[in-house]
Amino acid sequence: MTTIGIAGAGTMGTSIARHLAGAGHDILLAGRDMEKVKAAAATAGERVRAVDVAEAADAEMFLPALWYPGTVDLAREHAAALAGKIVIDIANPLDETFTGLSLAPTTSAAEELVRGVDGIRVVKAFNTVPGPVMSAGSFKGTTPLDVFVASDDAEAKQQVLALLGGSVFRGVDAGSLANARLLERMCAFGIELSQRYDLGFEFAFKFLPEQL
Ligand SMILES: NC(=O)c1ccc[n+]([C@@H]2O[C@H](COP(=O)([O-])OP(=O)(O)OC[C@H]3O[C@@H](n4cnc5c(N)ncnc54)[C@H](OP(=O)(O)O)[C@@H]3O)[C@@H](O)[C@H]2O)c1
Repeated sequence: MTTIGIAGAGTMGTSIARHLAGAGHDILLAGRDMEKVKAAAATAGERVRAVDVAEAADAEMFLPALWYPGTVDLAREHAAALAGKIVIDIANPLDETFTGLSLAPTTSAAEELVRGVDGIRVVKAFNTVPGPVMSAGSFKGTTPLDVFVASDDAEAKQQVLALLGGSVFRGVDAGSLANARLLERMCAFGIELSQRYDLGFEFAFKFLPEQL
């Protein structure tokens, strides 16, 4: 079991905290406003504790659950505590249209995190699961939810895949960190489809076959 620090107690941070706690991990949930964080933690189970961001950054793994480029700024601010640690990047650098990205196709929010902060082990995960589906922990009752996990650090990637065991998620090895460019674009494409078919973010990406 792993202790994971999550900074950002919004839709994604609180939901991921609840699901990973449900799989037996201890979660340190943090944010800027302690009252909001306490209220969010109270909805996420007894393994989720409200802390400040510095304490969350001291955990074994760290997951910034805020928007890009805030993810990079926050990790840079806590670079000393995060040195050598796995940092899970869930960010989608959406532009103002929400169906496009603010970064060129030659990079990704995950790669900008690597470039921006020395010595952290970045793993991309969770970013293709839309907020309402993440919150529910299933797509209309169907589990597991596929989580595509990409990193250039093979051991870090295996640790994140292992973290998902016994949870509502199925980890899919998505290769190198450069594939974060595809994963982030998948999110924007999913939103485009969601708008076209008026799905209200109720969609999920599933990789078949069930057994890999
Ligand atoms: N929502 C989705 O459908 C979805 C799907 C996949 C991936 N993502 C990604 O997940 C990330 C979070 O999205 P979300 O929908 O959960 O956003 P959200 O509901 O707006 O939550 C973001 C949280 O980050 C906190 N925050 C902002 N700056 C902070 C800082 N400096 N230190 C600590 N906490 C800070 C905010 O707290 P305050 O209340 O203080 O502002 C808020 O609680 C984004 O990168 C997004 O691209 C989202």
